[in-house]
Amino acid sequence: MRKPFIAGNWKMHKTIPEAVELVTELRPLVADITNVQIAVCPPYVALPAVHDVLLGSNIAVGAQNMFWEEEGAYTGEISPRMLKDLVTHVIIGHSERRKYFGETDETVNRKVHAALAHGLLPIICVGEVLEEREAGKTEEVVRRQVMGAYKDVPADKARVTTIAYEPVWAIGTGKAATPEDANHVIGHVIRATLAELYDEEVAQRIRVQYGGSVKPANIAGFMAQPEVDGALVGGASLKAETFAEIIRIASHVRK
Ligand code: PGA
Repeated sequence: MRKPFIAGNWKMHKTIPEAVELVTELRPLVADITNVQIAVCPPYVALPAVHDVLLGSNIAVGAQNMFWEEEGAYTGEISPRMLKDLVTHVIIGHSERRKYFGETDETVNRKVHAALAHGLLPIICVGEVLEEREAGKTEEVVRRQVMGAYKDVPADKARVTTIAYEPVWAIGTGKAATPEDANHVIGHVIRATLAELYDEEVAQRIRVQYGGSVKPANIAGFMAQPEVDGALVGGASLKAETFAEIIRIASHVRK
């Protein structure tokens, strides 16, 4: 059985004091939840403060990105070595990074290798854009992204990764995929590709979240699907109460 995993992707939101306020409020709201793994992914500058507030809690901390080199002349970049003491998880290849910052399947793959080499747990984002969906290319695109992300990643390392299936047209639009649709892509495309790359055991082991306009009103539907192992939540993770409500509902659906 895969333990559900709900992660909050704060994107470029929250100053350090605002970040501290959010996690200080969130911590007691979800303290009794044991059947769902929880993480928050604040902006880099808030990581030390958030890490301190959440010490000893059931909420993990993740980064939203990282570079693949350990150190060097890479102005503006943050390395896995720098993150290691602050986070356990790192989001890699979010569609906004692919769209605005030129990330490709190849750079995603380099980052996945670097994260795993440093013991960081990657949350690898895949998902088709609207034109690809409308052209009937969802399967082809998602399969290519999964193949690319896991290139030369051995099975024992692949096992600890998480995938977030985020159809790009559903991100921040209020227009989520249907739970059945998400279940189909995760089962028939993502797990099928993983089974091809590795084997059925590994494909069944890797957790796959859904992401894109997840909120308290629709999380139950996603959690009720057998292939959906949780969610990567953007906008609705920016308020402690709303994010806690999503986690509580997920916890109940899986009881
Ligand atoms: P959203 O973002 O929940 O605001 O749609 C999800 C994401 O981009 O991870």
